[in-house]
Amino acid sequence: MAAATAPLPATFYFAMAAAAKRRQKETDLEIAPEALPWQSLYKIMIGSIVPRPIGWISSVDSNGRHNLAPFSFFNAICANPPSVLFCPMVRSTDGSHKDTLNNVRETGEFVVNIVSEFLAEAMNLTAGEYPADVDEFALAHLTPVPSVKVRPPRVGESLIHYECTLTQIVDLGDQPGAGSVVIGRVVHVHVADEVLIGADKIDLAKLQPIGRLAGTSYARVTDIFDLMRPPSQIANKQNS
Ligand SMILES: Cc1cc2nc3c(=O)[nH]c(=O)nc-3n(C[C@H](O)[C@H](O)[C@H](O)COP(=O)(O)O)c2cc1C
Repeated sequence: MAAATAPLPATFYFAMAAAAKRRQKETDLEIAPEALPWQSLYKIMIGSIVPRPIGWISSVDSNGRHNLAPFSFFNAICANPPSVLFCPMVRSTDGSHKDTLNNVRETGEFVVNIVSEFLAEAMNLTAGEYPADVDEFALAHLTPVPSVKVRPPRVGESLIHYECTLTQIVDLGDQPGAGSVVIGRVVHVHVADEVLIGADKIDLAKLQPIGRLAGTSYARVTDIFDLMRPPSQIANKQNS
């Protein structure tokens, strides 16, 4: 059964007319992923799946040594139970696993720190490939602040933190370019009062989160537009 829709605004038809002009061309890339080097596929993916939020993940090893690194293969999954994921890839330099993944496997805990623009350079410093015993908090002059429910400290300078316990790790291979999906359950949330509007709305103009694009490029969240969602046609259900 076709769903009943409200009349569409003229802007919709203008946009669709523009979209219709884009026809498939013979010069378009049509290729099975396995026919490309994984590095090329990686470039196509990170250039088009954008902008990616950044989970700045703090963790500790079984001796309590601090680790901090950014991951832009990162997102929220659902809110009940509150869950997030991030994806450490196997290192292309030596085929080893990232310290963050090893730590989370060992301890079952991590913290997601949100990266505001004023923290971009510090975040970038923590992305360097350092031996496992290097404390990226100290290296980037960041303040480790004790978490409430987990052992890894939070980045004191970050405005929002999600303390997480490990739900599951899904490994998708062991070769360079492969990766793992780390799923965590949020067990405690910190939100700086200056970015909070009312009880539960985040002020993006104050949070100034950054997103990752390809290569060395990043995006700000400054050009925002709104679209009303079609109303739910399922009785007593709210859109999510
Ligand atoms: C903005 C940004 C996003 C990144 N996202 C990822 C990612 O999603 N997956 C990944 O494996 N590495 C990613 N990296 C690279 C890691 O941060 C880097 O390999 C780091 O050394 C890992 O640290 P660790 O060994 O302490 O875990 C990213 C780097 C930057 C700067």
